[in-house]
Amino acid sequence: MAEMNFGGVIETVVTSKEFSLEKAHEVLKNETIAVIGYGIQGPGQACNLRDNGFNVIVGQREGKTYEKCLKDGWVPGKTLFPIEEACKKGTIICMLLSDAGQIAVWPKIKPYLTAGKTLYYSHGFAINWQDRTGVVPPSDIDVIMVAPKGSGTSLRTMFCEGRGLNCSYAVYQDASGNAEEKTIAFGIGIGAGYLFKTTFQREATSDLTGERGSLMGAIEGLFEAQYDVLRAHGHSPSEAFNETVEELTQSLMPLFGEKGMDWMYANCSTTAQRGALDWAPRFREAIKPVMEWLYLSVKTGNEAQIAIDKNSQPDYRDKLNKELEDMRNKEMWQAGVTVRTLRPENN
Ligand SMILES: NC(=O)c1ccc[n+]([C@@H]2O[C@H](COP(=O)([O-])OP(=O)(O)OC[C@H]3O[C@@H](n4cnc5c(N)ncnc54)[C@H](OP(=O)(O)O)[C@@H]3O)[C@@H](O)[C@H]2O)c1
Repeated sequence: MAEMNFGGVIETVVTSKEFSLEKAHEVLKNETIAVIGYGIQGPGQACNLRDNGFNVIVGQREGKTYEKCLKDGWVPGKTLFPIEEACKKGTIICMLLSDAGQIAVWPKIKPYLTAGKTLYYSHGFAINWQDRTGVVPPSDIDVIMVAPKGSGTSLRTMFCEGRGLNCSYAVYQDASGNAEEKTIAFGIGIGAGYLFKTTFQREATSDLTGERGSLMGAIEGLFEAQYDVLRAHGHSPSEAFNETVEELTQSLMPLFGEKGMDWMYANCSTTAQRGALDWAPRFREAIKPVMEWLYLSVKTGNEAQIAIDKNSQPDYRDKLNKELEDMRNKEMWQAGVTVRTLRPENN
């Protein structure tokens, strides 16, 4: 473990320098890792663990996703099983079904969580809101979490490029007395960048806040507001899209991703710097009350309940597709389609 200074706050983090892959092998040498679900996180974690030499099997129901397992080289009856059979064979049961799917299959898999086994999550959702999800694990098993801070697709791509996605980790229940070491070993096994410690409660709340906030919800709201104002004042779609989205994703975001916001500001025009410095605090003050509202809605379980109710409806996928189609068909994102075709690399 290493002590690192995050802007004056000291945090303990773990990387493969402090906890080697060899050590992870030693800790998990007697474990059969059963990855249940092969959506987005499932393939990333299962393939990285397999490539890192761990003993991994996959549990997936028949259908389209099962075909994806076959394509990735999982062998029926050897490394690929129906969900319940994988839970029976596994000693670490990784719940990588959708959060709504985890609630639906819980009664079926619970009998296989026998003493000494480990229940693993990549989100604090099911456990933190257990009064709503009904997921209450038996007391004689370890319950642990490694939560990648990004998509399972990125976890896999970055692993293949020799890089690592940062992950948080937590122990909810330590029946073996060895749960933390097992958790860190698992994080190293899936190819984490650095691992930082959290709790199921803190992970669930920050994650739901982040995705509703600056990572996804707020950014779409900000884009729409600016694009609409520019269009209402007579600017062309091309101009409005470039000033709202394209310049950010293609030019500015990589700069502050690499070297920080002040560096990006320092490398813009003096006109841009002055205006951005003046307007940043105004946006902060305007947005803060909405952020507080969002955090409260997450903390009280309101957002979790909405996710449970909406995502478990049988026509959830159809309704989602309609909402995404509406987003895709907005003038702003249609302008984006055209702008992308005009990028030199696409010509
Ligand atoms: N998406 C990410 O990159 C990401 C990032 C960090 C953490 N996480 C966490 O990782 C976990 C997995 O997320 P995910 O996004 O990978 O999930 P996902 O893609 O939505 O999960 C889909 C998987 O769940 C199965 N499934 C769904 N409902 C089911 C049911 N009722 N019975 C049986 N199987 C069912 C699907 O099988 P079918 O295809 O057959 O329906 C598929 O294997 C979640 O806890 C999530 O919060 C995800």
